[in-house]
Amino acid sequence: MKDIQDTWAKKAKNEGYRSRASYKLKQIEQNYRLIEKANLIIELGSAPGGWSQVIKERKKQHAKCLAIDLLPMDHVESIEFYKMDLYSKEFSELVEDLQGKPDLILSDMSVNLSGIKLVDDESNLDLNLFCLELSKKILSDRGSLLIKTFSNQNLKKLKNLFAENFEKVIVEKPPASKTSSAEVYLLGLVPK
Ligand SMILES: C[S@@+](CC[C@H](N)C(=O)[O-])C[C@H]1O[C@@H](n2cnc3c(N)ncnc32)[C@H](O)[C@@H]1O
Repeated sequence: MKDIQDTWAKKAKNEGYRSRASYKLKQIEQNYRLIEKANLIIELGSAPGGWSQVIKERKKQHAKCLAIDLLPMDHVESIEFYKMDLYSKEFSELVEDLQGKPDLILSDMSVNLSGIKLVDDESNLDLNLFCLELSKKILSDRGSLLIKTFSNQNLKKLKNLFAENFEKVIVEKPPASKTSSAEVYLLGLVPK
C-alpha cells in the first residue's frame, strides 16, 4: 500500500504540483465539477498551494479565487492569497468586503497535531464548524461547501449538521487520500 501512496507524491513532483493533495481535489472535481461551475471561490487552508494550482487550472477564466492560510504561500497565477488566521478580525473584514456571494467554499484545513487525539479531534471539529457557519452566512443559493474532516466520533454529528443545512450531503475518500489516514471530505450541495 505504501508504494501506491508514494506514487501520488512522485506524480505530484513530476507533474509540478506542490503537494499530493492536488490529486484529491482533482478526483473530487472530476465527479462534481464544483470549480468549473463557480464564479467566486474561497479556499481555506491553501498552503503550500496544491489545491490552488488545481483551482487555477479548472476555474473559468473570469472566476475569482481568494485563498487563505496561516502560513505563507508562493504565488499561484490568478489566485489572490491572504496570509491570515481564519479566526482573525482581518478574515471577518475580508469576508465583509466580498463583492458578491461565493458559490464554492473549500477547506483542506487541519490543525497542527498536539498528539492528544481528543484535543486534535475537537480543534479540527471547530475548524469544520467555522466553515459550516461561514457557508450559512455567505454561500450563494446554489453553492457548495467541501471540507476536509476525519472519520472519528465527531463525523456523525457533523454529517447531521450538514444534512440540516444542505439538500445533499456526500462523504468522499478520494483514491489519493492515504488509506491509513482517517481524513475524509464532506461535501454539502445546495444550501437549504
Ligand atoms: C493540509 S494543509 C493544506 C494543503 C493544501 N490544500 C495544498 O493542496 O497544498 C492544511 C493547511 O491549513 C492551514 N490552517 C490550519 N488552521 C488554519 C487557520 N486557523 N487559519 C488559516 N489556515 C489554517 C495550515 O496552515 C495548513 O497550511
